[in-house]
Amino acid sequence: MTASSAPGKIILFGEHAVVYGRPALAVPVTQVHADVEIGDSDRAGIWINAPAVDLHAELNSLPSSHPVASVVRNFFSSSGISALPPLDINISSTIPVASGLGSGAAVSVALVRALSSFFFHPLSDEQVNACAYEIEKLHHGMPSGIDNTVIAYARPVYFTKGQPIETFTVGNPFTIVIADTGQPAPTKESVGAVRRLWMNDRPRWETVFDKIGEISFTARRAIEFCKQTLSEIKGQVLLGELMNENHGLLQELTVSSPGLDALVESARKVGALGAKLSGGGRGGNMIALVEKDSAQKVAQALMNAGAKNTIITQIT
Ligand code: PMV
Repeated sequence: MTASSAPGKIILFGEHAVVYGRPALAVPVTQVHADVEIGDSDRAGIWINAPAVDLHAELNSLPSSHPVASVVRNFFSSSGISALPPLDINISSTIPVASGLGSGAAVSVALVRALSSFFFHPLSDEQVNACAYEIEKLHHGMPSGIDNTVIAYARPVYFTKGQPIETFTVGNPFTIVIADTGQPAPTKESVGAVRRLWMNDRPRWETVFDKIGEISFTARRAIEFCKQTLSEIKGQVLLGELMNENHGLLQELTVSSPGLDALVESARKVGALGAKLSGGGRGGNMIALVEKDSAQKVAQALMNAGAKNTIITQIT
């Protein structure tokens, strides 16, 4: 039996603009994770069990577009392993589906790692990341690759599509409250909506993407270097302001929603340093930057404002 786990993630800055080549920042969230166990089965075939999504099926019965089946098939074809024993693959996850916490990418990464360890076929982070990216294409259509990257490396990343991966270190840890609107929001749809806007008026939206890219650039400096160049307080105030500014630009891109805006407002009202939607938008999650001591108060205010669930996480 082998087991593997992968964290969820949040995008701190830069979603949507990242699809158009601007930088974005994402960090792993270890409080939510996908877990995979693989063991020999007493039945013939490769059985995939994921009770949370009602999946209990033999590999060959699943269509070629099925994301979980595709991870398994891609692993066998790329590793050249063909004499397959009967297997039971059990997938569980505490990451809500379609909420912007990277559930699909986390399952792909945990599954590839579990297969690679079960079959003694070591894979580098880069190879795991490449496998997960192939599957992200099935989920999203034209993903930037940020989700699979932050989850495969399990470190903060400064991500620019097509550029070498840059992980970075956090100068001063900070606290984020994540709140789920409870409205499922397929990323494919919000990405498609932004694409239609962009097709109709490229200069206008390129300017918005530029502004978002600059926010990501500045935010990285504030997170990474605040120990040397800024006091902790000033660094966090700046980060909060950047979050607010980023949210305004995402509203302009039409990817916020009344539910997200209500949560963002309520977090700011009770003293969050900044707040924004996180991920594809139009539902899913928002994040608030808070002082550690006020995290519970902000989380409670978010629940009162209609959040379905909150997570308090320390970004280190
Ligand atoms: O909804 P999420 O968390 O998977 O994030 C999507 C981020 C986008 O920038 C909107 C799309 C992408 O592929 O980067």
